[in-house]
Amino acid sequence: MTPVDGWKLGETVFSEERIAARVGELAAAISTDYADHELTVISILKGSYIFLADLTRALTIPVRVDFLGLSSYIGAESSGQFEWNARMTTSIRDRHVLLIEDIADTGRTLLHVIDHLAEHGPASIRVCAFLDKPGRRVVDIPVDYVGFQIPDRFVVGYGLDYEGWFRQLPHISTLERV
Ligand code: XMP
Ligand code: MG
Repeated sequence: MTPVDGWKLGETVFSEERIAARVGELAAAISTDYADHELTVISILKGSYIFLADLTRALTIPVRVDFLGLSSYIGAESSGQFEWNARMTTSIRDRHVLLIEDIADTGRTLLHVIDHLAEHGPASIRVCAFLDKPGRRVVDIPVDYVGFQIPDRFVVGYGLDYEGWFRQLPHISTLERV
C-alpha cells in the first residue's frame, strides 16, 4: 500500500483469515451467553465499525445496533479527555447492552462510556473489544469478550486508524517509518 504521512505498513499481526475465524468464535460465544435474550449492541465510533459489521452478522440472537461517538485520541497519544460527537437514539433502560470497541488500551474510553451508559438503567452491560493491550491499562474495566491480546505496539487496520488512515485494511498491521 502507498505510504501515508511518512508511514508504511509493517508486519501483518493478524491476517484476514485469522480475524474471520476469531470473530466467528466470539459471535458463537455471545450468541450462547445471550440465548433467549435480546441484545442491544452499542458500537463506539469510529474504530469498531468493521468489527461491528462482521460480529453482528454472525450473531444468532435478536440484536439492535446503536452508536456512540467520542473522541479522545490525538494522533497516537491517548489524552484522557473526551468529547461526545454522536449520541445513542435507542433506549437501553432494562436492556442487555454489549459495548463494542476496537481496542482496550488504557481503558479510559471504556470506563467513560460504561459510566455514561450506567446512568440510563440497563439490565446489564458487558464489553467486547476486538483487541486488548492489557499491559497499557491504567483504569480497571471489565472486558468480557476479547478478540486478541496484543503487546504495546501501535497497530492499524480492521477499523483501527492512524489519523483516519488505514481503517479499510482487512488485516491488522504494524506501521513503520518510510
Ligand atoms: P483507551 O486508552 O481509552 O484508548 O483505552 C482506546 C482508544 O485508543 C485508540 N488506540 C489505538 N488505535 N491503534 C489504533 O489505531 C492502536 O494500536 C491503538 N491503541 C489505542 C483507539 O482509538 C481506542 O478506541
Ligand atoms: Mg477508537
